[in-house]
Amino acid sequence: MSEIIEVTPKKRVLSCIQPTGIPTLGNYLGALKNWKNMQDEFECIYAVADLHAITVRQEPAALRKNIYSMFALLLALGIDPEKSIMFIQSHVPEHAQLSWLLSCYTQFGELSRMTQFKDKSAKHADNVNAGLFTYPVLMAADILLYKPDFVPVGADQKQHLEIARDIACRFNGIYGDVFTVPEAYIPKIGARVMSLQDPTKKMSKSDENLNSFVGMLDSRDDIIRKFKRAVTDSEACVRLSEDKPGVSNLIGIYSAVTGKTAEEVEREFDGKGYGEFKLAVGEAVADALNPIKEKYDSVISDKAYLEQLYKTGAENAERIARKTYFKAMKKVGYVL
Ligand code: TRP
Repeated sequence: MSEIIEVTPKKRVLSCIQPTGIPTLGNYLGALKNWKNMQDEFECIYAVADLHAITVRQEPAALRKNIYSMFALLLALGIDPEKSIMFIQSHVPEHAQLSWLLSCYTQFGELSRMTQFKDKSAKHADNVNAGLFTYPVLMAADILLYKPDFVPVGADQKQHLEIARDIACRFNGIYGDVFTVPEAYIPKIGARVMSLQDPTKKMSKSDENLNSFVGMLDSRDDIIRKFKRAVTDSEACVRLSEDKPGVSNLIGIYSAVTGKTAEEVEREFDGKGYGEFKLAVGEAVADALNPIKEKYDSVISDKAYLEQLYKTGAENAERIARKTYFKAMKKVGYVL
């Protein structure tokens, strides 16, 4: 007699990343590292959000290069195109199309309340374009097209996920069940990595002080040098404490890359100086990033390989996106 095997379909996860330069160690430990791990548990869809990138002015050659490098970096991170769908947002026209539809179900008032819009329009006062304002609607389209169960988001994108959920509920309320209302996915492990030069600030690639952040593709020497220069304190004791933000940040980074707990790290460096500790953190980070860098270097120059992957990825993504888009159009009353 044959056994009956019950197959529970995997839950679906969707996330996107903007192609605006090489992400930092903070982006890696806080979010991207999970993108690889989630592939075992979930059906994953990942996209390079290139349409979002032009809400701030981009130099065409740089944008093109950044799109390629972000796509290659996803591969380097261990996203497996056999397991997950990975594509470039602008290759699937339904994103822009659904965005228009959804914008008519989004209120001016709710977009005005987005803190990222307020921050960015203050920062780029000379270019407060309509795209910057409607950016959360495009993000809602990215999400809702694929009916994901979960969307992994950092603190800065929570409000945008919330508005995507509101738009979905509003639309479903009028037309019936069209969109899935996704949940935020908060990873079990995730580290908030602070600047190496000012550990009260988040690590950021736009920081003027180049020693304050580690890029995911930095050389081993650069990584170690930056950790050696990391700001600590004068106590000379490797101990997790709120009043020791520099050392606590390094402990957090070290435990994130080695898998050791904070207590284990404290014990390991008990009685040892900061010099030794900082070197160990730098080496551990370099070891963790090295395989990613190697894989990146091996794929980035292979344009034909990348092209074949992003084309297939877009076809697979569009197969899903088209269905949702047409369903929404039909419900609204369009002639299909
Ligand atoms: N706005 C996100 C960011 O800047 C990127 C993004 C675009 C995204 N579309 C998305 C994230 C859909 C999650 C889901 O980080």
